[in-house]
Amino acid sequence: MRQSLLPSRRAGKGRKALLARPSAVAERIERAHSLDPVVHSLSDSVVRALPAGPRTDALHGVPFGQPAHPTLVRLPLGCWTSAVLLDLFRGTERASAVLIATGIAGIAPAAATGLADWSALHEDQQRVGLVHAICQAGAATLFLGSLAARAGGRAGYGRALSVSGLALASAGAYFGGHLALRLGAGTSHAEQVSHLSGLGWHDLCGLGELPDRRAVRRQLGYLSLLVYRQGSEVSVLSDRCSHLGGPLHQGRIVVERGAACVACPWHGSTFVIADGTVVHGPATARQPSFETRVTAGGRIELRPRP
Ligand code: FES
Repeated sequence: MRQSLLPSRRAGKGRKALLARPSAVAERIERAHSLDPVVHSLSDSVVRALPAGPRTDALHGVPFGQPAHPTLVRLPLGCWTSAVLLDLFRGTERASAVLIATGIAGIAPAAATGLADWSALHEDQQRVGLVHAICQAGAATLFLGSLAARAGGRAGYGRALSVSGLALASAGAYFGGHLALRLGAGTSHAEQVSHLSGLGWHDLCGLGELPDRRAVRRQLGYLSLLVYRQGSEVSVLSDRCSHLGGPLHQGRIVVERGAACVACPWHGSTFVIADGTVVHGPATARQPSFETRVTAGGRIELRPRP
């Protein structure tokens, strides 16, 4: 059954509870299936427009080791906040206009990186991301209107539009925070191997128990591992993909830049099996990896790579 984003006929008490807890609104958006037609069509368009490759990797932030979007959104939000503050003082009209224009110019890179990341999320995350994007697009439109009003000599109206734009951008930032901090978009989902495995070397299994050149899953205490053998060389990665936790042992083995890599079955993030280096996004965080050695008795031992 479809749900509206906000309760239509709730008692006043229920409304007050929602207003008091914006997280309740964000949680309703997570489950708002009415957004799905837009989510699916926009997501398909973004995936078509951004095929896997260096340009898309750069938009995800692969060269920087973390998503680029959170850094880039600081420009428009910082400029617009400063412009609204400057509007409180006399003689700052020109400076405010420059800040608003700079913020609007910063929207394009922020939107491009955000859309790239958004297209490789789960549906509940994408619903929240869509509302986040609509708020920011609305805010940019209001600030554009503010610039036009100021240029046309209607400074008071321009200031009012700026305040409205900042309010909408702040609401959008809240949903962005919910997406990142509550739903984990952009954070590493790989297991914290250094906290989950004891110090020193651990026995895993016999070398002869592993198939050659095929990824398999093995368990080490709480840790789920991808294990890959090439002759007597054994490579081990944490099995939960750092992007959104996909099962890497079910991924394709590919060769990239001369190294054996595993491509995640969920969104295609590709990691060097030997050390977990990210070759292609959307993942930006290195996959935790293990040092291995084979004992004289043919047993494989491993420990987390520092
Ligand atoms: S979970 Fe998304 S690429 Fe692995």
